[in-house]
Amino acid sequence: MTDLAFLVGVTYLIAATLFVVGLHKMRAPSTARRGNRISAVGMVIAVGSTVTFALIDTGGDVLAWTALVLGAGVGASFGVRRSSTVKMTDIPQLISVFNAVGGGAAATIAIADFLHYRTGDSPPLTVSIPVVFGVLIGSLTFSGSLIAAGKLQGLIPGQPIVFPGARVLNLGVAGVAAGAGVLAIVTSSHIEWLLVLLVGASILGILMVLPIGGADAPVIVSLLNAFTGLAVAMAGFALDNQALIIAGALVGAAGTILTLEMAKVMNRSVPSIVLGGFGTSDTATDTPVDGQDLNDVRQLTADDVALQLAYAHQVLIVPGYGLAAAQAQHEVAELAKLLTAHGVKVRYAIHPVAGRMPGQMNVLLAEADVPYTQMLQLDEANTAFDTCDVALVIGANDVCNPDAREPGNAVSGMPILDADHAKSVVVIKRSMNSGYAGVSNPLFTDPKTGMFFSDAKKGLAEIVVATKTYVAA
Ligand code: TAP
Repeated sequence: MTDLAFLVGVTYLIAATLFVVGLHKMRAPSTARRGNRISAVGMVIAVGSTVTFALIDTGGDVLAWTALVLGAGVGASFGVRRSSTVKMTDIPQLISVFNAVGGGAAATIAIADFLHYRTGDSPPLTVSIPVVFGVLIGSLTFSGSLIAAGKLQGLIPGQPIVFPGARVLNLGVAGVAAGAGVLAIVTSSHIEWLLVLLVGASILGILMVLPIGGADAPVIVSLLNAFTGLAVAMAGFALDNQALIIAGALVGAAGTILTLEMAKVMNRSVPSIVLGGFGTSDTATDTPVDGQDLNDVRQLTADDVALQLAYAHQVLIVPGYGLAAAQAQHEVAELAKLLTAHGVKVRYAIHPVAGRMPGQMNVLLAEADVPYTQMLQLDEANTAFDTCDVALVIGANDVCNPDAREPGNAVSGMPILDADHAKSVVVIKRSMNSGYAGVSNPLFTDPKTGMFFSDAKKGLAEIVVATKTYVAA
């Protein structure tokens, strides 16, 4: 081993250690930011060392230098710009685009490596097998992620897109892609089969994501993220690059665990999501859910809510997707501060899949400087509901649907926040519409529940104004 190769190996080891430490710190919201920074430093070290090694290796090749510097410059400036300007609710589609880029890059690297061998000896199986898997997974991730991003962004209809004969077409395309992959390995120096595989896998990615409902798209994004990791690890095997293998394996494992966790807490199985057919649109309509209409509910005004909150000892806030959609995090934090200063004990009950992406409520509330100590996780919150005076449900629905305790409905078995155990419940939402699961929620018609129909941001601002008059009195 040359001195240079040894040096690169050492920097990869340092980078890999930083990836693992960073990932470990991302487990808790309080250390997640630091974890992200540590991993980013690891990535800078890995990329820096790879580029330096490549530049020394290629000597004075001006074209290689220019391509590397230009590629890194364009990619980094796009990434920094988009990440710093993206709205919190648009993060899933940005991640999806990043997945597409990662998958596409892995497929391209694999093809480039194959081409490299074409000019000399045939690639050994230790190269051709990872190359074929890299192209297969990378191209599928590329096209599938772009479709998922399009659905989340509303550029492609959110509802499942199904057509007659789709399953047969899927099987046919999968067969062609698998056949091309095998032939690419057997005939080793024939790039044509690799290109057939690339086209087949790209079509498969589109066919896989089209039938998935927009609301299921976050799970698919997480699954495709795991695929990106696998594709990158395959590219690492083909190039014999340990940094790519380790980073790819970590992304693959983390993405797989996250996908399984999301599916579990949503009470769905990954195969049922991938096979599609479930999912609702997030667009509000005026149609109430069957069996629930305005006559069944007790309606409140902002003034009623403020009075109830100001006289409570303990309030548990249940934030949900509607809080994120309305971007009402600052208004809810202001209300909580006002009540806390008045002597009310205010905390937040956080459900792991509230909203549309993992940790969305934690991130949203952190943006409004809500201390992590006030955020209770599922079990802790459920104990606290028993002694709480008011459960203030803001834009949440499925995560506190008591029907989850009953069999035979779309949320059956899903662990929920027991908001109905509080002495009284106040719900802020715009209508009697269902949430993501598309089912009615008996919490809204419970006699101890009062409904304040409003957009979360507007309604909370009105409650803040009304509360000021009570806490000042
Ligand atoms: P949902 O059950 O989706 O309910 C959100 C509620 O917010 C809706 O009923 C809607 O009612 C209301 N809303 C929407 N916009 C609003 C606004 N501007 N102001 C006030 N209210 C508004 O949300 P949840 O309780 O957070 O549950 C999350 C659901 O998403 C779960 O079923 C979960 O399985 C699923 N899911 C989660 C994830 C992750 S990882 N978090 C990923 C995919 C799916 P109105 O229209 O009447 O206002």
